[in-house]
Amino acid sequence: MESANTYWADRALLEWQVELGADEALEEGPVDRYALNVAVEKPTAKQEVKVAPAVAPKAEVDAVAVARSAAKGAAGLEELAAAMQAYEHCELKRGAKSFVFADGQPGARLMIVGEAPGRQEDVAGKPFVGQAGQLLDKMLAAIGLDRAAQDIENAVYISNVLPWRPPANATPSPDEIAMMLPFLERHITLANPDLVVLMGNTPCQALLGRAGITRIRGQWAEAVGRPAMPMFHPAYLLRQPAAKREAWADLLAIKAKLRTAP
Ligand code: URA
Repeated sequence: MESANTYWADRALLEWQVELGADEALEEGPVDRYALNVAVEKPTAKQEVKVAPAVAPKAEVDAVAVARSAAKGAAGLEELAAAMQAYEHCELKRGAKSFVFADGQPGARLMIVGEAPGRQEDVAGKPFVGQAGQLLDKMLAAIGLDRAAQDIENAVYISNVLPWRPPANATPSPDEIAMMLPFLERHITLANPDLVVLMGNTPCQALLGRAGITRIRGQWAEAVGRPAMPMFHPAYLLRQPAAKREAWADLLAIKAKLRTAP
């Protein structure tokens, strides 16, 4: 009878503890489970043991340094174009249809630097062939220049900061500008114009390290060792025709500089 009494007493004690919130049966003292000799099941030959493949940590590539070295190694414009096409660090290359290098006459006294190809340029593989390009041609014609001209005096050479169209014509990112800048600088050196025209904020940011075209347009600066004129981009002039007045003043300043530049 003794044991039956103990049973009911123990049970009542347990129920009372459960009511108090106890949900695990613990022993009086701590248990060192590491010391327990528990047999570990070894995988059989049939059981597949999945081991994550060893992945070597990716070496950080300095995309700008790679561009610098590739650009430096180009002895002429053809080599430069080939080096740019072989450059793998600009993601825009993968989304673009065409590599857009330049148009006009290399060696012309004036070089125009735009931002990047748009949709029509991407299709044609040539810079400034869309609506903005047609306005640019008219602006150049107004000061006696023509991208189709063969003679150096009337010729003009045209390129962009980026040779690949950004998706949806997005503004080039600082990284994209930085990695393509060594190529642009080499491009200017090899084309060797007397003057450079920077169309809009992107080429100003790339070559002068500053933007704010409304403030800086019309003021001669220096890019790759030659006079550079920041101007409103023709696409902006299409949206803001009133700004053509300032653009005309800048064109006249360019024409005058071409007369006096060596
Ligand atoms: N806008 C640019 O800046 N460049 C082009 O080639 C076309 C449009």
